[in-house]
Amino acid sequence: MKYAAVSLLVSGAAAFPWVVDSPGVDSSLFKQRRALWRRQQTGEGAGGPATCPFNANHVPASPVTAQYPYNNAKNGVMGNQKGGFQVPTTGDTAHYYVAPGPNDIRGPCPGLNAAANHNFLSHDGVVTYNELVDAQQNVYNVGYDLANLLAVLGLTLTDGDLVTEKLSIGCDATTRTSVNPALTGSEPGLDGHNKFEADSSLTRNDFFTHNGDDFSFNGTLFGMMDTTCKSNFNREALSLYRSQRWHQSQAENSNFYFGPLSLLLYGAASFLYELMPSGTHGYAPDLATISSFFGAQKNSDGTWGFVHEKIPANWTNRVAPYTNNDVTLEIVHMYLENPVLFGGNTAAGSFDALNFGAIQNGKISPSITPAQTSCLLYQLTTGQVPSYLNGVITPTVNALAFALKKLGPSFANLGCPIPLT
Ligand code: HEM
Ligand SMILES: *[C@@H]1O[C@H](CO)[C@@H](O)[C@H](O)[C@H]1NC(C)=O
Ligand SMILES: *[C@@H]1O[C@H](CO)[C@@H](O)[C@H](O)[C@H]1NC(C)=O
Repeated sequence: MKYAAVSLLVSGAAAFPWVVDSPGVDSSLFKQRRALWRRQQTGEGAGGPATCPFNANHVPASPVTAQYPYNNAKNGVMGNQKGGFQVPTTGDTAHYYVAPGPNDIRGPCPGLNAAANHNFLSHDGVVTYNELVDAQQNVYNVGYDLANLLAVLGLTLTDGDLVTEKLSIGCDATTRTSVNPALTGSEPGLDGHNKFEADSSLTRNDFFTHNGDDFSFNGTLFGMMDTTCKSNFNREALSLYRSQRWHQSQAENSNFYFGPLSLLLYGAASFLYELMPSGTHGYAPDLATISSFFGAQKNSDGTWGFVHEKIPANWTNRVAPYTNNDVTLEIVHMYLENPVLFGGNTAAGSFDALNFGAIQNGKISPSITPAQTSCLLYQLTTGQVPSYLNGVITPTVNALAFALKKLGPSFANLGCPIPLT
C-alpha cells in the first residue's frame, strides 16, 4: 500500500461510514458497525477485481518509430515538446483506432481511454509509467513536467505499483499490476474512489449514488454538459458546468466529498479546450471534437449514447506544450469564475469545509499568490492530503521517494514546503 491513513477519528468514521473499507484504513477500530457500511471497489462490485477484464496475453503500447516519430517521446523521457502535427499520422497503422474488446480495461479518463484505443497505451489498459509519460506527449503534446506529474499522481494516489510502475487505467487488476499482491495489497486502479477519481465529474456518476460505478460514460451527463456549454466547451462554460455538478452532488449524494484532489477535476476540464481541440478545426473546443474524444454519439431522439473514445479524423494536436504552470493557472481561473466550497456532506446533513494549503475555510482566495498557485499541485503529490473529512492520506516513505525522484527536477525551485522523509 502506497498511502497510509492517519488521523481518522471514530466520529469521522460515523459521519463517513464508507471510509471504513477504504484501502489503508484500520477498520478494526469500527468492527461493530461494519456490516452497515459500504465497500469500495471490492470483489464482485463495479470496478472490483472479480469483474475486471483479464487479458492473459498482455501486449505493451506500440512505441513511436523513426518513420512515425510524433514528439519522439520514448521510455519516459522528455520528447521534442513541439506539437501541431496530425495524430495518428496517415499510414501509421499501429496507431489506428481499434475498439476495446472484452479483455480490455477502460476507466474514468477519456484521454487515456482514447490513447489506449489507439495503442499509444497498452490496448488492454494495464499500462506503465513510461507509457503514460510518452503517450501524453506524443498524442496531446502535454508538457513533460505535467505528463510526469499526472503519471506520478496516477501511480501513487490510486495505488498503482511502485516496483513494476504499472497501473490499471480502470478497474482493480492487482494480479497484473502488483509485484506481489500479498505484499502490496489491492491496487484499485484509476476507478479507485476519492483518490484521483472524485465526485461531481463531468460525465461520470458519483461512486455512492450509483453502486460504485464512478467510471462509465453517462450520456445524460454528457448532454447536460453540452447544454450548459452550448456546444462550446471553453473555460467559462465548463466553470459553470462544474459548479452545477457540485450543486447536484451536494444535493443528491449524502456522501459527497470535494477535497483538495478535486482540484484535478478542474485540470481535467481544462483538457477539453486545451488538449482536445484540433488545428483542423481552428483549435475550437467544438462538439464534433469533444464528442469523439468522449466516445459520445447522439441518438435520433437527442439523447447521447456511447461508442468508445476515438481521436477525431484529421486531428492535429496543440502547438505549444501544456505545462504544469499552464494547468495550474487554468485550475485557479476556472475555480474562481464560479467558486464552490471544498469539503463534504456529513451524516448530520451539514456541509463541512476544510483547510489545505491555499484552500482555507473551503475556499481558494481570489488573492492567491503566484507562489501558492505553483505549489497547489505539488502538495497533492507530496503532502498529507485530506481524502475525506477526518481522514488524511499520507504518502509512505516509498511513495514520497518515488514522487521526489520523478518530480524533483521540475519542482525543485518552486519554494513549496518539501516534506521530510
Ligand atoms: C497519466 C495521466 C492521466 C491520468 C492518471 C488521468 C486520470 C484521470 C482520472 C482518474 C480521471 C477521473 C477524474 C474524475 O472525474 O473523477 C480523469 C478524468 C479526465 N481526464 Fe484524465 N488522466 C490523465 C491524463 C489525461 C489526458 C492527457 C487527457 C487529455 C485529453 C485527460 C482527459 C481527462 C478528462 C477530460 C477527464 C474528465 C472526464 C469526466 O469527468 O467525465 N486525462 N483522468
Ligand atoms: C446518468 O446521470 C443521471 C444524472 O445524474 C442519473 O440520474 C442517471 O441515473 C445516470 N444513469 C446511469 C445509467 O448511471
Ligand atoms: C479529413 O481530410 C480528408 C482529406 O483532406 C477529407 O476528405 C475528409 O473529409 C476529412 N474528414 C474530416 C472528418 O474532417
